Amino acid sequence: PALYEMADPLVGWYREHKRDLPWRKDPDAYRVWVSEIMLQQTRVEAVKPYYERFLKKLPTVRDLADAEEDVLLKLWEGLGYYNRVRNMQKAARQIMVDFGGKFPETYEEICSLKGIGSYTAGAISAFAYGLPRPAVDGNVLRVVMRLTGSHADIMKQSVKRKVEDALQEVIPKDAASDFDQGLIELGAIVCVPNGSPRCEECPLASICEARKQGLTGEIPVKSKA
Ligand code: ADE
Repeated sequence: PALYEMADPLVGWYREHKRDLPWRKDPDAYRVWVSEIMLQQTRVEAVKPYYERFLKKLPTVRDLADAEEDVLLKLWEGLGYYNRVRNMQKAARQIMVDFGGKFPETYEEICSLKGIGSYTAGAISAFAYGLPRPAVDGNVLRVVMRLTGSHADIMKQSVKRKVEDALQEVIPKDAASDFDQGLIELGAIVCVPNGSPRCEECPLASICEARKQGLTGEIPVKSKA
């Protein structure tokens, strides 16, 4: 299908079916950032209590920049991948020094922050500022590869970049956040991994190439290492 065909059904579906998650309330840049970093290697249910506690203890960029390391590590204890929170503190200090303590508001500036790649920068841009930038993680790659019937290897950076470029062209200017979150949500609760996506519930089923060809078990293709 032409990818622009996905926008309206996806946004409509998301508005009706989205889960009530703590980071979807008042999505300012700092809160989106904290949630997306936590969610990178950790499941939604496990993240919730960490997210609430982290924001209570460190409600602003300045609090994070000034925090003692033992406080940080304690807040992160159990989430693993501790470099995530160390990088967040470095980025918070960058924001204090380079941006006068105000979270940057352009995609390029957000990308300049330590530990923030295209996924997180896209998520902050779209969720906090409504900018039409894609947020492409493994779940979104799965959805797009199935939708387009592509056997491209989702471990390749070049494939991710192509998907980012293609999505960028079709994100509705007035619904960037719902479009991006809709893709994430669809990948999380409908277009799930392995052989059993819930295609009956999918707003994109009628235009999905993998479904049409019976290939949802083969796609996405993911090389090892
Ligand atoms: N996984 C990654 N980002 C997410 C988000 N914003 N909501 C739910 N699950 C996610």
